[in-house]
Amino acid sequence: MHTNTTILHLSDIHVGSPHFSKDLAENVIAYVNDVKPDVIVITGDLTDNGYVHEYRGVVELLSKLDTKKLLVVPGNHDARNMGYVVFERVFGSRFPILEYNGVCIQGVDSSEPDVDDGHIGRLAYDLVSQNLSRCKGFRIVALHHHLIPVPGTGRERNIPVDAGDFLKLLLDMGVNLVLSGHKHVPWLWEINGMVILHAGTATTLRLKAGVPPSLNVIEVTKDEIMIKRVETRKLKEAVIYRGYPQPREPLPVSTSDDLLRELEEAVQNLRDKNARISFNTRHTTSNEPYTKCTRHSSRA
Ligand SMILES: [Fe+2]
Ligand SMILES: [Fe+2]
Repeated sequence: MHTNTTILHLSDIHVGSPHFSKDLAENVIAYVNDVKPDVIVITGDLTDNGYVHEYRGVVELLSKLDTKKLLVVPGNHDARNMGYVVFERVFGSRFPILEYNGVCIQGVDSSEPDVDDGHIGRLAYDLVSQNLSRCKGFRIVALHHHLIPVPGTGRERNIPVDAGDFLKLLLDMGVNLVLSGHKHVPWLWEINGMVILHAGTATTLRLKAGVPPSLNVIEVTKDEIMIKRVETRKLKEAVIYRGYPQPREPLPVSTSDDLLRELEEAVQNLRDKNARISFNTRHTTSNEPYTKCTRHSSRA
């Protein structure tokens, strides 16, 4: 990383919603074009129902934003009504990867068509781990759904059904920062040294009481990141984090390796006794379904 990298994090803009606010959108455009971020990340719900004309409105809005790079992942609203097909036609991959100035950002589609719940899926784990293991810089993963509950959002629902496994994968892969949206409530958690940053809605009035619409700005340097929350009504800024997220691998859970090894021996014994019976023991019994990355001591 040679210089600072400015990442602007937007979420839940909901173009096409009756609650979409042109005034807020104008504020966001003005703010972005003043900051001129290196990268804009949008963590889903760009549209309200995944319709083609809504995607057209999204493209019109994005064309007014001055940025060098853009990374977008779909939300549950974008996947509605076969919107996931339109998303791919407009933005390409639902699992985009972006490397810029020593920062790697892996996008992850956590949506399912016409379902509000999140799901990442084990097939995606290999892709994410392979991409991140090649990354030598600051590691960011962006997805729509929240991996950890957000306060003030009522009875918990919609967390990806495999959030626990995915969180562990992210820690194992040394991910420094996770960006999410979906609940329209901005929040920040730090878990095992990894920062999980939730964006509110930037451009809509779908707001919980007392929670203003907002976006996030992340300044990444070699030694520190600084996160600002920006209220998009009055463009008021507040620093909400300073530091350098250093993810720590979780303590090992009590594994069932011993039990599995005993099972393998029992299977082998049975096979030895009766060669006519075929047991498929080719699958690994490891608890690690993916390849761990090599941690990089340098932050560069
Ligand atoms: Fe949303
Ligand atoms: Fe959502």
